[in-house]
Amino acid sequence: MTDKHVIVYEVGPRDGLQNEAGIVSTKHKIALIDLLSETGLRYIEATSFVSPKWVPQMADATDVMAGIARKKGVTYAALTPNMKGLEAALSAGVDEVAIFGSASESFSQKNINCSITESLERFAPVAKTALAAGVSLRGYVSCVIACPYEGTVVPEQVRNITQALLDLGCGQVSLGDTIGKGTPESMAHLLDGIVGTIQADQLAGHFHDTDGTALANVKTALDYGLRCYDSTIGGLGGCPYAPGAKGNLSTISLVEMLHDTGWETGLDMTKLHAAETYLQKNIAGDSNAL
Ligand code: HMG
Ligand code: MG
Repeated sequence: MTDKHVIVYEVGPRDGLQNEAGIVSTKHKIALIDLLSETGLRYIEATSFVSPKWVPQMADATDVMAGIARKKGVTYAALTPNMKGLEAALSAGVDEVAIFGSASESFSQKNINCSITESLERFAPVAKTALAAGVSLRGYVSCVIACPYEGTVVPEQVRNITQALLDLGCGQVSLGDTIGKGTPESMAHLLDGIVGTIQADQLAGHFHDTDGTALANVKTALDYGLRCYDSTIGGLGGCPYAPGAKGNLSTISLVEMLHDTGWETGLDMTKLHAAETYLQKNIAGDSNAL
C-alpha cells in the first residue's frame, strides 16, 4: 500500500439495509454482498447480530453469512452489541466484529438501551472473547458531531468513548456523524480535539450525508490523516434510532472524489456500478437515499 492509499469500508449491507422500510429478502442481500466482493473492497460489513425485536431487517444475519460466497482477501464484518450477538457471529464465521457506542447518553439509551458506562461494561466481555477467538475488533462512536436528542456534542465526549473502545482492544474506531450534521468546520473542531491524543491511523470516518456535506467532511478528515472511510453502495442508509439520519456517503461518490484528487482505492468502478445497478433494480424500493 502506498501513502496515497485510502481504505473504503463498505457498510451498505448493514447500515443501508437495516434502514429499509420493507424487509429485503436474504437472497437479494447475499447477491449484493457477492457483487460487492468482486469490486476490490477489502472490508464489507455484511450484517448485524442484534435483537430482531429492535431491528427486524437484520434478523437473517446467520443466513446471510452462510449464503455468501467468501472471497479471499475480503474481511466480512458484523455488529455485535452483546455476548448473544457475538456468540451468533462467531458461529456464523464472521472475520471482524464491531461494538458500537455513542458519545451522547440519550442516543446510547435509544439505540442499545443502556447508558454509555453500561455499554462499556457490556462490551468488555464481547471484546475479550472476540480477540481470544482471533476475530478482529472494530469500534463505532455515534453522534460525534450532534445527537438527534441532545444537539451539539463536544469533542471531549467523543475522545473519551473513543479511547475507552481502543482500551478494550479495538483496532480501529469509526467516528459516526450519525445524523449527517457535520461541516468541514465542525469536523475540523472535532478532529482538533481528538487527533494527537489518538492516532489518526486508529480512526475511520463514518459520515452520513443528510445535508450533502459528507464528501467535504472526508476531505477535511484526510487533512488530519484519516485513511479509512465507511460508505454505502447507492448511498443507502440511516439508523432506525436516529430520526433524520439519511443515507451514508455513497461509495461511488466517495471513490470518484478520491480518484479525482489523487488517492488510490484499488476499487473497480465498473464493478461498483454493477453492484449499484443491482441494488437499484432489486432492493432499494423504499430507500430514502436513492
Ligand atoms: P434489550 O432489550 O435491552 O436486550 O436490548 P435484552 O438483553 O433485554 O434482550 C431483549 C430480547 O432481545 C431478548 O429476547 C433477547 O434474547 C434478544 P426475548 O427473551 O425477549 O425473546 N436479544 C438478541 N437477539 C438476537 N441477537 C442479539 C440479542 N440481544 C438480545 N444480539 C440490545 C439491547 C443491544 C440487544 C438492543 O438494544 C439492540 O439490539 N440494539 C441494536 C440497535 C441497532 O442495531 N441499531 C442500529 C445499528 S447502530 C448504527 O446504525 C450507528 C452506526 O452506523 C454508526 C453511526 O452512524 O453513528 C454503527
Ligand atoms: Mg451509520
